[in-house]
Amino acid sequence: MTTSTFTPRVFSGIQPSGGLTLGNYLGAIKRFVKMQDEGMPTVYCMVDLHAVTVWQDPTDLLRNTRELAAGFIASGISPEKSILINQSQVPEHAQLGWIFSCVARMGWMQRMTQFKDKAGKNTQNVSLGLFGYPALMAADILIYHATHVPVGDDQKQHLELTRDIAAKFNHDYGVNFFPLTEPVIEGAATRVMSLRDGSKKMSKSDPSDASRINMTDDADTIAKKIRKAKTDPDALPSEVDGLAERPEARNLVNIFAALNDQTVEQVLSEVGGQQFGTFKPLLAELAVSKLSPISTEMARLMSEPDEIDRILGRGAAQAREITVPILEKTYEIMGMVR
Ligand code: TYM
Repeated sequence: MTTSTFTPRVFSGIQPSGGLTLGNYLGAIKRFVKMQDEGMPTVYCMVDLHAVTVWQDPTDLLRNTRELAAGFIASGISPEKSILINQSQVPEHAQLGWIFSCVARMGWMQRMTQFKDKAGKNTQNVSLGLFGYPALMAADILIYHATHVPVGDDQKQHLELTRDIAAKFNHDYGVNFFPLTEPVIEGAATRVMSLRDGSKKMSKSDPSDASRINMTDDADTIAKKIRKAKTDPDALPSEVDGLAERPEARNLVNIFAALNDQTVEQVLSEVGGQQFGTFKPLLAELAVSKLSPISTEMARLMSEPDEIDRILGRGAAQAREITVPILEKTYEIMGMVR
């Protein structure tokens, strides 16, 4: 069975557990906009129920959810073209999440590297929700029968699990009801790395603010962080192979390519031979020119939180036209009295 028997639909989500980073923008949001503009039906989600697998201050969660919505819209997600929601306003996500907790196997969940990374040595003290998180993520996707999920590289394993859950449900009930969703992990920036350490992912939870570019950083801050980004003493190569053993250089070139809608080959054909003293100001200028209009628009949207809430309310109503019938059918397949 393939996704071809299902109508194409795109779904993806981001946690409102902190500010947006350049990693989220290039690895996810920029690509969400592209898929929206290519004309497939798209649903994009602020996954607040995922965020609370780790305690969130309620005031921060409220603000971060609205700011994330503002970031989506300011980046080009149109509430007229895409359904934009926060997860907790569409209760069928959590309801199907429970069903999938009953489909997924303990052994599958125990292999999830993101859980191991997040829990660290603390496995007995983290929430049960953090462990079960991938089952809810599968439900986020499959409650829409979504066929395509654009994400960064770090979500690959969760999407494989989503396919395993869909396949097991279909097998256990002898149906072809849930699609085997395709991960869409494409482009130069599927894994944007820390500006301080090219072996670590750029992350909102890194204690060092200098390690990341936040979507709310002003032009001076962006330029300063790029100027101070860790690099090596060599000039940039003209060929991609020359970046193989140079993670920090590779990261900056990848960021340049993704921001400028170029391939890494194209970028290197233009900047190969340059020292970082020349390349970094070019990158800073490019980053500021692309990101500043977004942060200015985010700030404007944040001054009207009621409007954001209205958009999310409307998105939830549109989403439920899809999710309610899919949940009903799921329960019916499973033999629950309707
Ligand atoms: P989250 O909130 O950690 O990240 C949101 C999206 O941003 C991408 N991303 C990156 N891409 C490139 N480089 C980086 N440094 C970087 N950091 C983050 C992530 O890959 C992701 O695409 N479990 C998900 C949220 C989620 C979800 C879903 C996603 C919940 N349900 C259903 C897709 C479909 C997460 O924690 O993403």
